[in-house]
Amino acid sequence: MSSSSTPSNITWHEGQVSRDERAQLLKHKPGLTIWFTGLSASGKSTIASALEQHLLHRGINAYRLDGDNIRFGLNKNLGFSPEDRTENIRRIAEVSKLFADSAAIAITSFISPYRSDRDSARQLHKEAGIPFVEVFADLPVEVAEQRDPKGLYKKARAGEIKDFTGISAPYEAPETPEVHIRTDQNTIAEAVGQIVAYLEASNIL
Ligand SMILES: Nc1ncnc2c1ncn2[C@@H]1O[C@H](COP(=O)(O)OP(=O)(O)OP(=O)(O)O)[C@@H](O)[C@H]1O
Ligand SMILES: [Mg+2]
Repeated sequence: MSSSSTPSNITWHEGQVSRDERAQLLKHKPGLTIWFTGLSASGKSTIASALEQHLLHRGINAYRLDGDNIRFGLNKNLGFSPEDRTENIRRIAEVSKLFADSAAIAITSFISPYRSDRDSARQLHKEAGIPFVEVFADLPVEVAEQRDPKGLYKKARAGEIKDFTGISAPYEAPETPEVHIRTDQNTIAEAVGQIVAYLEASNIL
């Protein structure tokens, strides 16, 4: 690491167990990160939760890092300005990488509206040799607005929330996500099936 932001006087201490050896010892495949992106109410948390349940029932250690939940704790000091959104995603990228390195399947569900932030998360995983699976939960914004399970679109339209993705802040859709799900055209179970099919076909599950 030679970045100018690297603090001085610290030295990386390598462990004694490689990624592959860890997986062998634990008798399952090495970990990976499944990164959901999409508008609010697109179904990221709903599908992530169903996917986590499916994987756990198959005996696979999966763990969710959910946007709202993480903002209650680790990222409670961050807001929704572009800078804070970038820092939010930077931290989650690092944490998901740690989970995946521990041989878990990390499942993140954050709007993560900026392509460059998602690409940084992908790059971080790539450098560590950890698979990164971007899942685009896609639907027309009008459908998201009709769903509005948290009443956020209503508040955004009323001007009570500024910088709301899809209404008053941009969403940059992925160009080549590993999995692209139209959540207005597929059930939750079909969405989980689509992701699992990708993981199996890629031999990472
Ligand atoms: N096919 C579907 N897939 C996913 N969610 C669906 C589907 N059909 C209906 N829904 C509903 O849409 C809503 C999706 O909300 P959810 O909280 O999962 O979205 P989110 O993408 O996590 O939003 P946020 O970014 O605000 O956290 C839920 O109320 C869910 O029950
Ligand atoms: Mg959510």
